[in-house]
Amino acid sequence: MYDYLIVGAGLFGSVFAYEATKRGKKCIVIDRRNHVGGNVYTENIEGINVHKYGAHIFHTNNKKIWDYVNSFTEFNRYTNSPVANYKGEIYNLPFNMNTFNKLWGVITPQEAKNMIEEQKKEAGIAEPNNLEEQAISLVGTDIYEKLVKGYTEKQWGRSAKELPSFIIKRLPVRFTYDNNYFNDKYQGIPIGGYNVIIEKMLKGVDVQLNTDFFANRDELEGKAKKIVFTGMIDEFYDYQFGQLDYRSLKFENEVLDIENYQGNAVVNYTDRETAYTRVIEHKHFEFGTQEKTVITKEYPKEWEKGDEPYYPINDNRNNQIYAKYKELAEKEDNIIFGGRLATYKYYDMHQVIGAALVAVDREFSV
Ligand code: FDA
Repeated sequence: MYDYLIVGAGLFGSVFAYEATKRGKKCIVIDRRNHVGGNVYTENIEGINVHKYGAHIFHTNNKKIWDYVNSFTEFNRYTNSPVANYKGEIYNLPFNMNTFNKLWGVITPQEAKNMIEEQKKEAGIAEPNNLEEQAISLVGTDIYEKLVKGYTEKQWGRSAKELPSFIIKRLPVRFTYDNNYFNDKYQGIPIGGYNVIIEKMLKGVDVQLNTDFFANRDELEGKAKKIVFTGMIDEFYDYQFGQLDYRSLKFENEVLDIENYQGNAVVNYTDRETAYTRVIEHKHFEFGTQEKTVITKEYPKEWEKGDEPYYPINDNRNNQIYAKYKELAEKEDNIIFGGRLATYKYYDMHQVIGAALVAVDREFSV
């Protein structure tokens, strides 16, 4: 008999398994996929760690979490500085003095501020009624037209005029020549890839892959005293309050017989016509010098049952459904729900590790 059956070998499940095992508990981890790691898994293609479920850059302000992940492996100095390609024109992201200089030829922060203010005033939007008006009222028309509109419309599959304004509360604008996308103190990519961390966490833990909890629920539930569940909470409760919605993505990988395709790990395509939103060139996450390169085109798509559920859609309807499932979950004595799918929440990696460590504290601090 195991102490814990952990459903899902992603970051939440792996951190929990590692910490529980350290405390002398016996764990079994199952995953419906044929590999561990959940969405941080990387696949080795041509000697390059390919981020199979989307680009993953670790960043945090939390020293405790940073030290925790570094205790499994060292991180490199990768700094995320994506660029935008708008119909062949290249701009730095996030919006900063390099972007403004390229857009308008301005040199000083005051000139850039004046330009944005002028455009906001010209648009004359007092009460934004939709995402387009909201974005223009925040950053003016030029940035909106070239760098926000097409990308956002592709992401959501709808015109910006039909999208609610609350989706964009803020658009970060930086009046320094700083292309670092994140404001966090710590950032990087684990040397050797995320798999190294997961494998170390799961060392000595029984792992069963290609195993769907729901295909054999009774037998699996009988294997352990408690369950840690990191799958979809609506599926756990047999969709009794309805199905939660997600936004999904389609990834297309290409191996190219050249050393360097785009000179950067992440390039956003911000026009409406190009069907994909981003092209990832994976070797640049690790300063790779392999002869070939692997790129991934990322296409946003409507989620249908069976697709990977990537981003929860936390609108009123879905949040209300989730609240009902959460109420049931809180009444369970022997089941711990955790991670992005069981809590219907977008988590960055540092946040999901933090949440798993909180769950561990709660479970073992008696
Ligand atoms: P995760 O989904 O990783 O693991 C859950 C596991 O449970 C999966 O392996 C699944 O197969 C398994 N499972 C589900 N149902 C099951 C069942 N019924 N039976 C058996 N197994 C089951 N974060 C960040 O910090 N920086 C970044 O750059 C990015 N980038 C990024 C890009 C994209 C496209 C996405 C969608 C997300 C990111 N993230 C990110 C977020 C990051 O992916 C996230 O924080 C963690 O992967 C969440 O780990 P979990 O363990 O919660 O879920």
